[in-house]
Amino acid sequence: MEEIDKENLPRHIAIIMDGNGRWAKKKNLNRISGHIKGVNAVREIVTACRELGIKVLTLYAFSVENWRRPKDEVAALMGLLEEYLLKEREEMIQNNIRLSAIGRLEDLPLDVWNTLKEAIKMTEQCNGMILNLALSYGGRSEILHAIQGILSDFQKGKVKPEEINLQRFSQYLWTRGIPDPDLLIRTSGEFRISNFLLWQIAYTELYVTETLWPDFNRKELLKAIADYQSRERRFGLTSEQLNGREE
Ligand code: FPP
Repeated sequence: MEEIDKENLPRHIAIIMDGNGRWAKKKNLNRISGHIKGVNAVREIVTACRELGIKVLTLYAFSVENWRRPKDEVAALMGLLEEYLLKEREEMIQNNIRLSAIGRLEDLPLDVWNTLKEAIKMTEQCNGMILNLALSYGGRSEILHAIQGILSDFQKGKVKPEEINLQRFSQYLWTRGIPDPDLLIRTSGEFRISNFLLWQIAYTELYVTETLWPDFNRKELLKAIADYQSRERRFGLTSEQLNGREE
């Protein structure tokens, strides 16, 4: 904790929570036990981020590709998600956390979607931190969805082609209003983006740890933030420009 500079925290942390299955396998448990343990890690990390003063935490909880997993695993994940929302929504309000979600939410089972909408509504006045869940999410789907939105507004005469710039385009994404991630963490060692926030991570710092998601905890999070703080973010400029030594 002493190593963390409170003045230079990432505003938005995004996490690819990978490794629940491997964690379970290592312990001779079924995959679902790994996901159950994964939910505990979610709780710990949400609390830690709120305490630290992180403004946005985006968690990749379920991808568009994940629907192709065995039926019982998909059902278990949906059940865990619903249980999490029902159990945690009061605590979110107490901790001033606003819930938000990105993805093809209409693909979720109706009861899960309704519970999600309810929790989003219940926490809409909270402004301490945004907990943004990526559910049935895919970066390519998000970009296509944005293009469809633009074309539809074009047909209605609401937007002209020359008005579409980077900022305007971003407003058609599911992450509208949310700043791009400063730090993207991926657990369990793989160097892949897996269709996560493709547009938004253009200048995001990446951090990959071997730790499997169920073992990821507050200490691991602080390690990732300390690593982030040791980087120089140049956004395409030179180091000299950034330090004001050169025009
Ligand atoms: C990746 O592990 C994890 C997932 C596909 C699901 C993540 C879900 C949770 C942590 C629980 C539900 C979430 C919330 C917000 C309550 P994997 O199964 O791909 O692991 P493997 O690569 O080792 O098989």
